[in-house]
Amino acid sequence: MKKVLKVLGMLIALAVLLLAAGAAYIHFDGIPTYEVKAPDLKVTADSTMVAEGKRLATMVCSKCHMASNGLLEGQHMKDLPAQFGKAWSANITRDPKYGTGRYTDGELAYLLRTGIKRDGSYAPPWMPKFPHLSDYDLHSVIAYLRSDAPELAPVAKAQPPSQPSFLAKFLAHVAFKPLPYPSGPIEAPPVTDKVAFGKYMSTGKVECFSCHSPSFETTNVMEPEKTPGYFSGGNGMPDKEGTIIYTRNLTPDKTTGIGSWTEDQFIKAVRFGQRDGKPALRYPMEPFPAMTDEEASAIWAYLQTIPAISHDVDALYKK
Ligand code: HEC
Ligand code: HEC
Repeated sequence: MKKVLKVLGMLIALAVLLLAAGAAYIHFDGIPTYEVKAPDLKVTADSTMVAEGKRLATMVCSKCHMASNGLLEGQHMKDLPAQFGKAWSANITRDPKYGTGRYTDGELAYLLRTGIKRDGSYAPPWMPKFPHLSDYDLHSVIAYLRSDAPELAPVAKAQPPSQPSFLAKFLAHVAFKPLPYPSGPIEAPPVTDKVAFGKYMSTGKVECFSCHSPSFETTNVMEPEKTPGYFSGGNGMPDKEGTIIYTRNLTPDKTTGIGSWTEDQFIKAVRFGQRDGKPALRYPMEPFPAMTDEEASAIWAYLQTIPAISHDVDALYKK
């Protein structure tokens, strides 16, 4: 008996030691690095693509990368929940030393698809990845980043490196891994295929589903529809003052979702943040004025087809 206890004691001591070593490893290793297998890509673009890339960046990238001076020079991400540490979005102006000027087209595509930066480090979860974006849209963004748009004028300034917390580093080791680089071409469904196009808009081009499902921790990036509680809201996120705002249930449920809304109400909410002609939606739901009515209408059509989930988001505020 004594011997058994002794062995057990030693095993526990060993386990504690291993855990401590693992923790120290994660602490000093920080966010992991990976091999960069950037594709051999040279984007050729016309002015339509550049304009489309700018529109996409306005809807998706500027939110994080645009500083208050209107330049895409990066900024402190104030609303990152404190448990993840501190982060600054990168300078993505054309600057050849501090901005995207130092990236090749292939390296940019590789980063946006997989999350691996040109130096091999992994962009933490607060820089989104775009595995479902069509090649056309991806190339449009890259073409835009190369363009002479005034907000991309070179700024010779590096943002401070992120200071991920232990939790963030831990998650980057075990949960948030780089995504695979697509093995074939990715095409967006045609606008005429309204439901499929709406799905592409809300899960591939502009990510509505990850904010609008219950938790970032259970987001299924590769197969969005398999995300638990898909589009049923309740994901709590800080506004600029740190007050928690819960995302809304966008499933067609009649009482807790948008089942009794009209399409017109939906389009006004998404594009302008309005209800009944008045500003109504709070940060971090930033409206999408650059989205067209046709695109917002397609998202509406798609949302009518997903399973209705009864999830009362208002109840979360009463807890
Ligand atoms: C939710 C906020 C957010 C959004 C949206 C976002 N980014 Fe980022 N991005 C970040 C943060 C934060 C970093 C810094 C990551 C780090 O600490 O390594 C980053 C890093 C980058 C880098 C790496 C630059 C370098 O220094 O190596 C590039 C390039 C980039 N983003 C481009 C984009 C583009 C293009 C889009 C839109 C298609 C976009 N980002 C959308 C937050 C965001
Ligand atoms: C950064 C996270 C985030 C993203 C991305 C996001 N939303 Fe939201 N959304 C929110 C939050 C938070 C609210 C709740 C705002 C409030 O309560 O004032 C909200 C509210 C809404 C509402 C109001 C619903 C109601 O019941 O009042 C609609 C409609 C909506 N979002 C649609 C969308 C669509 C469509 C997209 C993608 C094009 C999208 N959202 C992207 C965070 C997000």
